Amino acid sequence: MTTDTVTIIDDSTGKKVQLPLLTPTSGPKTIDISALYKELGYFTYDPGFMSTASCSSKITFLDGNKGVLQYRGYPIEQLAAQSSYLEVCYLLMNDKLPSKTELAEFESIITNHTMLHEALKRFFSGFRRDAHPMAIMVGVVGALAAFYHDHMDIRNPEHRMITAQRLVAKMPTIAAWSYRYATGKPFIYPDNNLGYTENFLHMMFAMPSEDYKASPLLAKALDLILILHADHEQNASTSTVRLASSSDANPFAAVAAGIAALWGPAHGGANEAVIRMLMEINDSGKPLQTFVDRAKDKNDDFRLMGFGHRVYKNFDPRATLIRQICHQLLNDMESTGEQKKLLETAMALEKVALEDDYFVQRKLYPNVDFYSGIIFLAMGIPMNMFTVIFAMARTIGWITQWNEMVSEPGYKIGRPRQLYTGPIDLEYIPVDKR
Ligand code: SDX
Repeated sequence: MTTDTVTIIDDSTGKKVQLPLLTPTSGPKTIDISALYKELGYFTYDPGFMSTASCSSKITFLDGNKGVLQYRGYPIEQLAAQSSYLEVCYLLMNDKLPSKTELAEFESIITNHTMLHEALKRFFSGFRRDAHPMAIMVGVVGALAAFYHDHMDIRNPEHRMITAQRLVAKMPTIAAWSYRYATGKPFIYPDNNLGYTENFLHMMFAMPSEDYKASPLLAKALDLILILHADHEQNASTSTVRLASSSDANPFAAVAAGIAALWGPAHGGANEAVIRMLMEINDSGKPLQTFVDRAKDKNDDFRLMGFGHRVYKNFDPRATLIRQICHQLLNDMESTGEQKKLLETAMALEKVALEDDYFVQRKLYPNVDFYSGIIFLAMGIPMNMFTVIFAMARTIGWITQWNEMVSEPGYKIGRPRQLYTGPIDLEYIPVDKR
């Protein structure tokens, strides 16, 4: 990073402060304000971090205006077309594409870490049957810290690597077992003869009483979706993982915090919210414009779920790719009438919204969550599992960002300040005098 400077002048005192202007490989230049409080005695104010870079990173690059997403410099379109989710995991974690031998070794390591400690099974039965699988996943992932004390020295690169491998390997088992428990079905153990996504579908849908073979079409579509969700710069859940880890908390606790943040409908919970919205539209029998008008009405908290993005102000490149997968899958499969109806409604809604000034002016386009739910439904995956799959995919992103942060010499605990607007210096009044 080369540095120029910017000068800030305090108009009330005339005091000037020169701050370094950092030039990234690509993207906006960044003012290093870390000396501002010391020099000028002022904080900066940026709730929601609209203009704030929380860290420097070499992992994922986004250009919101050009719809660019790159993992370790490789465009998402090339990775989606030619790579696999486990190869992308290797790329993100190791900052290089693996050789054939390295990839085979990595796949074998992941395959051999998919089992959970038998005692962990009892954690699932502590939940009510109708527990949301995300609630189960948050609890079980956090509990992994109780099982891996032997490899939790976060200063040890080998411990960090084995932790990353364990999490990538075990998330599909935890995800599938969350679903199996919630639906009263027996747990299906991982099968080391299957590929990553095939194994997940096997653990989700196989039954002890009959043969099951995951559809290669679905396994491939799911692998693609995992690639598209693997990492995404400093989004809310990744920032949560970084902040939680900055206190030197263990990575399982930090990832559990990331899962909790992802669950919100404004973030990873949007894929489930999109389907519920499309179903509400279909069941209402009302014209689409009614819902578009509601989304524009400031007095109505209804939003077009799956639309808009903090960074992408043109199009979300993942949405473009997922839209293609959606059409292809529904064409290749005997999808049910309801799935086709949901897709038709989604496409019609997209068309109406993209011709409406309100959305065009605010640069609100379909995001990664707008179509993914339709694909999950076509795979037979229930709505409350959509965000669980997003969490499964994003685990490699969280753990890679965690590894990057804790590997930096002298990283600091994250401790933002505030603009205090409450009362000050009040006199305490004893209760009998109030
Ligand atoms: C993900 O950050 C990431 O990278 C996240 C993610 C990842 O991979 O990690 O990409 C995954 O979370 C995708 C986003 C999924 N969320 C949704 O689809 C929920 C619906 N979208 C919104 O809630 C919203 O667009 C956000 C949360 C995604 C972005 O919110 P911002 O950037 O804070 O924008 P904003 O709320 O300030 O909205 C700006 C304007 C407002 O109107 P005005 O006040 O200017 O009049 O746009 C309006 C908003 O009311 N607006 C919408 C809208 N989204 C924004 N109006 C109707 N429907 C919407 N969906």
